Parts: sequence; structure tokens; C-alpha cells
Amino acid sequence: MARFPIAEFKDLATPFYFYDLTLLDRTIAEIKRTSRDERFKVHYAIKANANPGILRRIQAAGLGVDAVSGGEIRAALEAGFHGDQIVYAGVGKTDAEIMLALDNGIGCFNVESEPELEIIDEISGSMGTKANIALRVNPNIDAHTHEYITTGLAENKFGINLEQLPSLIEKAQKLENINLAGLHFHIGSQITETEPFVMLCETINRIQDEWEEKGIRFKSINVGGGLGVDYADPDRHPIPDFEGYFKVFRNHLHLRSDQELHFELGRSVVAQCGSLITRVLYVKEGTTKRFAIVDAGMTDLIRPALYNAHHRIENISSPNDVKHHYDVVGPICESSDCFGKDEVLPAIRRGDFLALRSAGAYGEIMASQYNCRPLPSSYFFEK
Ligand code: LLP
Repeated sequence: MARFPIAEFKDLATPFYFYDLTLLDRTIAEIKRTSRDERFKVHYAIKANANPGILRRIQAAGLGVDAVSGGEIRAALEAGFHGDQIVYAGVGKTDAEIMLALDNGIGCFNVESEPELEIIDEISGSMGTKANIALRVNPNIDAHTHEYITTGLAENKFGINLEQLPSLIEKAQKLENINLAGLHFHIGSQITETEPFVMLCETINRIQDEWEEKGIRFKSINVGGGLGVDYADPDRHPIPDFEGYFKVFRNHLHLRSDQELHFELGRSVVAQCGSLITRVLYVKEGTTKRFAIVDAGMTDLIRPALYNAHHRIENISSPNDVKHHYDVVGPICESSDCFGKDEVLPAIRRGDFLALRSAGAYGEIMASQYNCRPLPSSYFFEK
């Protein structure tokens, strides 16, 4: 079990996100160590967590950013990232967002459709500039992950289907205010097998070979994000296997010597450094069940309700007590507001602190104010 400075929690309002910055630093250092290759550029997918305290750390370490909205671009700029370190994806970019990106010299637009390509060309023309773009290709690969977070299959709102790619490449080359810099891919999230990434490399190799025969060479290839984390046992794998991940691309992708390879990692960067800390309000005895009712709900961490995800739950107030079965539930008026059924946990009492682990990614950032609840706060810890 991870160590929490419980004595310091006593006076804090719960629920709150606890971030272990030492672990975040170690994780980033491991990414830098294992991705070292001049051609590899890692962009942090800011959608996973845009807490300024986290962003500043990632910025200081020299990673870039993958943004999907004007708000994310602004958050990245405020944290000190430069426009040219930002790549910008999203199926529904508004005119205002495109202008904001161009105004700030965004590194690359990941373009997801033909009409979007035309609008970016038009807007950059009217601003007297030229937009770097990558076409987001839908490689039709099954990432074996939850249906809500798989994005690379054929019929999908994301990206351009393989059959439509040739006409878009030709079009992008003709447009005057567009610089076709590369191809972008993303096959899904929380991918824990190697095979989908190998398949992605093979698809990219085929596409590259085909276009090189026609005399077209891309400056950059972007393989998106998706590397999964160990939700079942975060202390076994506090840092994901970046070595193995980057090795797949080193071994299977035929990157040309003058090409850049971009990665957009979100979850694997920040998931394990965060926990949602909640206080137990009541222990309620049912007829067959015992409920631990806590003060955090699906408004603070929606992943269990939305994706059936499970975050490891720990009683950090009395970790060594005799164990019982509990359903750990929140206070929101929805039956899906449940963090765990039949959890075997050390005896829980009113006032105990529970930690919901691996909550650093898609936790705080997805919080809502449903039921007029306040947003959770955050607490940073460094050893
Ligand atoms: N690049 C693109 C184009 C993406 O759509 C995503 C995630 C990423 C990169 C980062 O993927 P990661 O490395 O974090 O797997 N809210 C869901 C996850 C949604 C992921 C959306 N796209 C969850 O809580 O599981």
C-alpha cells in the first residue's frame, strides 16, 4: 500500500485529489530515459489532467502537449508551453479555436475530416499564415479496450478512413495555406497488450511505403497515446512499462532517418500519481450487505459509473484491521454512484479516510457539479 501523510489530512476538506509529485517526476524521468531518440517527441495528452500544478511539472521536464480544445491550448500556454510544442486534435474544432491555435503558432493540427481541412486552409489564408497539419487516419485496429475509449475502428467519428485517405492527401497538397506535415493515428486508450501497437506499426509501414512509391514522404508520424496502467495493483506497477512500449515502435515501425515520431501519452503519465481521498460518512447495515457511504461521488470520479472502471480502494486510516465486505458508494442520487461492490476492506468506521487509487488520469478533469456539488480540490505531496 502506498504511504499517505494521513496526519496532514485531518484538517482538509474532503474529497480531494492527492498527487504524489515525486512519483510523477519519476514517471516523467522514465519516459525521457526510455524514449531517448532524437526523432521521438512525447506530447502529454492534457485531457488526462490539466491541473496547473501537474502541467507545470510536465512543462519543466520538456515534454510537448496534445490538446483537443481551445481551453486546453490556453491551459498549456498558461503553464508555460510554447505554441510550437502543442499538437491540436479534435473532430469539432470551431473557427475561434482554429484562430486561437494559429495565433499561437500551434505545432500541428491533427485534421479529422475533409471539411475541417478546407476551413483550416480558409482561416489560415485569411490570417496570412500557413498551417502545419497531419491527417488523422483511422487504421481500423481493434485495441481490445472499452467500447467508449476505442477510437481506431472503421466506423468511428474520429479520423479519416483508409479508403478516403488518398483523395485527402492529394487535396491537402494542393491547398495553399496548408503544409501537409504528417499522418496521425490513435487506436484507443488503456491498451495493455502489445499486439494492437504492433498492428498499428505494420499499418503505418504499409501506408508509408505506398506513398513513397508515389514520391510523397511525411515529415512526421504521430502514433497517438493509449498505453494502459495497472489499475488492479498500482503499487506493483507504479510506473508503466515505457521501455517495452517504446521498444515496439523502435522494432516494428520503419521510421525514416529524417522523420519525427510523435507520441501522445496521457493516462500512463499521470494515472498512478493521483488518488482520490474521501471520508467515510456512514456505515450502513443492510439485510445482506454493508455499505460504506463516502463523501466522494461520481461527480468527483466518474470512471466507475461511466466505464464500469474499477479503482483500487484502500482504507488508509486503519489498514491492518480485520476485513469485512462493503459496497463503497457515494452520496449522489444515481444508483451508478458506486465505487466498488463487495470490496474486502479492513473494518471501516465513520471518519476513516479511503483512497481511490490510480485516479490521476481522467479523474479531476472529468469532475462535474451535478447535484450542485463543489468541485474537488487538490493536494500536492513531495517526499
Ligand atoms: N491522443 C488522442 C487523439 C486521444 O484521443 C487520446 C485519448 C490520447 C491521445 C491519450 O490517450 P491515453 O494515453 O490517455 O490513453 N476518459 C477515458 C479516456 C478517454 C481517452 C480519450 N482519448 C477514461 O477515463 O478512460
